[in-house]
Amino acid sequence: MPLTRKAYRAAILHSIADPAEVGIEASYEYFEDGLLVVDGGKISALGHASDLLPTLPADIEIEHYQDALITPGFIDTHIHFPQTGMVGAYGEQLLDWLNTYTFPCESQFGDKVHADEVADIFVKELLRNGTTTALVFGSVHPQSVNSLFEAAEKLDLRMIAGKVMMDRNAPDYLTDTAESSYVDSKALIERWHGKGRLHYAVTPRFAPTSTPEQLTLAGQLLTEYPDLYMQTHISENLKEIEWVKELFPERKGYLDVYDHYKLLGERSVFAHGVHLCDDECARLAETGSAISFCPTSNFFLGSGLFNLPMAEKHRLNVGLGTDVGGGTSFSLLQTLNEAYKVMQLQGARLSPFKSLYLATLGGARALRLEDKIGTLQPGSDADFLVLDYNATPLLSYRLKQANNIAETLFVLMTLGDDRTVQQTYAAGALVHQR
Ligand code: GUN
Ligand code: ZN
Repeated sequence: MPLTRKAYRAAILHSIADPAEVGIEASYEYFEDGLLVVDGGKISALGHASDLLPTLPADIEIEHYQDALITPGFIDTHIHFPQTGMVGAYGEQLLDWLNTYTFPCESQFGDKVHADEVADIFVKELLRNGTTTALVFGSVHPQSVNSLFEAAEKLDLRMIAGKVMMDRNAPDYLTDTAESSYVDSKALIERWHGKGRLHYAVTPRFAPTSTPEQLTLAGQLLTEYPDLYMQTHISENLKEIEWVKELFPERKGYLDVYDHYKLLGERSVFAHGVHLCDDECARLAETGSAISFCPTSNFFLGSGLFNLPMAEKHRLNVGLGTDVGGGTSFSLLQTLNEAYKVMQLQGARLSPFKSLYLATLGGARALRLEDKIGTLQPGSDADFLVLDYNATPLLSYRLKQANNIAETLFVLMTLGDDRTVQQTYAAGALVHQR
């Protein structure tokens, strides 16, 4: 059903390039009194209201927002849907945290009623926080992915997800086998990949929980369906890295395990990479792979500080991940607040425009979807947000002291959260109203 043509008038901001490549000023477009025109679920025009208004039919509906900023929808390149019920669990580092909280919580997702219920909560929470696309881990159960995709399909969201493949070093109640993980993943690919705006990601959890046979079959799926995604974790925690060395003594390092099983490529996204070395960054970049920078998780699980300047040096694609439930917020604004601190602790800075890039166009590039999402360029999917300058009394007062869009943007990222997201639109339809 084609949606009607509609225009949105407000301050409008989007990234058009990586500030690390073109400098800050050339990395964005800002229209103080802008107009965004949406037609049939896509953006048909973007510009200054004064230029575009005379070109529109007299009867077009125009929504006019005062004290608000329109941006592209946010893109979360790493999150776990079955961990929604355990976000913020106390006091462990990665490996103990997995055994104590994560695995028991994920064990419930073979049950359709439970999986449907959490999928509904999860998708609503994404949209409340302005996230219109996410790269999502399911649980080991195929049902978890069916529930998530069904919820996303109802709202015509652009979502990427996959069933976890995990055939060792996890409780019996939560493991598959190399063969069953291949068969189950394949059935999900056939059912969902390319349906509407949905895409499938082959999802080996991380090297320690897959046998060589399972990693081989994961690589085989990627060759059978060339436009599939691959998502996994890498080099998040020092004990994890030591464990990978013990499990794969014949490999040169953590990345080399994935490389050996042919899991690197243009649609491969590796979460964390906190402890990657220069050579590994170079290899990731060479293969077109991307990293998800997950600052709230890296703080919360005591994993370490991601070296964004090193990734930039190698021109490695980097997206921003919340990593809920290791991460503590669904909000990419709050995730950027933490990202700024990660950089400060390393003696570097994160400009608000680089932050905007990471949450939008950078994520889209990591997912090879920059022709569809991540900007407000005409032709893109109409996935966008209305951010409210008066969301809280403090934000309202603080933004009155901001002198320009750079200051406004930075304050939105330090003080903003789900309350800041007044409306979320996906494919031109209103999918969240605060
Ligand atoms: N490594 C393997 N599994 C996980 C997970 O669920 N969360 C995080 N943060 N790291 C992991
Ligand atoms: Zn994760």
